[in-house]
Amino acid sequence: MSLSTSAIDDALKSAVAAIKGARTLDELKAVKIEHVGDKSPISKLNQSLGKLEPSDRAEFGKILGQAKAEIGAGFAEQQSKLEVERDAKVLLEEVVDVTLPASNAHVGGLHPLTVIKNEVSDYFLSLGYSIAEGPELEAGWLNFDSLNIPADHPARTMQDTFFIEPLESGLVLRTHTSPVQMRTMLTQEPPIFIVSPGRTFRADELDVTHSPVFSQVEGLVVDKGITMAHLKGTLDDFAMKMFGPSAITRLRPSFFPFTEPSAEVDVWFNNRWIEWGGCGMVNPRVLETAGIDTNVYSGFAFGMGLERTLMVRQGIKDMHDIVEGDIRFSRSFGLGL
Ligand code: PHE
Repeated sequence: MSLSTSAIDDALKSAVAAIKGARTLDELKAVKIEHVGDKSPISKLNQSLGKLEPSDRAEFGKILGQAKAEIGAGFAEQQSKLEVERDAKVLLEEVVDVTLPASNAHVGGLHPLTVIKNEVSDYFLSLGYSIAEGPELEAGWLNFDSLNIPADHPARTMQDTFFIEPLESGLVLRTHTSPVQMRTMLTQEPPIFIVSPGRTFRADELDVTHSPVFSQVEGLVVDKGITMAHLKGTLDDFAMKMFGPSAITRLRPSFFPFTEPSAEVDVWFNNRWIEWGGCGMVNPRVLETAGIDTNVYSGFAFGMGLERTLMVRQGIKDMHDIVEGDIRFSRSFGLGL
């Protein structure tokens, strides 16, 4: 392009038109490259100034300078106009209505029963026990027969046990966590140190002290030379962990088919004896069923209700509060996280 007033005029007019035509700051940026920058027609014309006769240079230099100044001014004007527009749009579109109600997201919490279950598990883990689990839908043989509970035992009647159809399946909803003892002994060699917290089921009506679905924690130790003194010491320490340093336990003679001798465990709490659970030395017949040599090994077992432990410790009077899952009840125990 050779330098002429009409060429300068064309470059100026198309630059000004393009600048005015830019609708957004992005468009204006593209226009700048094309009509204002180093490669634009007006800059190219400016570069060819050197090729002119010295006598023409001053005149064309002046015209070019004016054109460039006009383009620069037009650009600046359009830019500030588009910036104002953009700011106004941002204010409108990104407006935050501070009067809207806040979205009040509640942080979840653990149910107090889960908290106490974790507490029990952590305590026994710290003593070197393992956690063992078993299915809630259990073989009747593991829930009853293998634990020396005879076919005519009252716990097996329709009133207590949820039998699963078809009855020939032999399945029940486990009535206690003791089948986990047998599962463990059948699959592990002594020494065995396990606790097994979990849900259990009995055909009871829900009332202030009963629930058809409740939780137990089972403990089982099988090793050489295990005696009732180990059981008592373990229960005392466990009681102190759950009920505070002044808690002690007492054993009252009792009967369970799977322990011999058997005892009820009471715990001294808030100046009275509270029935806490069952315990005893693992019945040698049960050890034999599991293929454990009773000349070498002996063991103890215990089982407590977790709802009962929670209710006694926290002074909860009504089982409904535990099973209903009302967040206001759970929250009164903290989040447990
Ligand atoms: N399984 C017994 C019950 O549910 C409790 C228990 C466990 C007793 C272990 C002795 C030993 O009542």
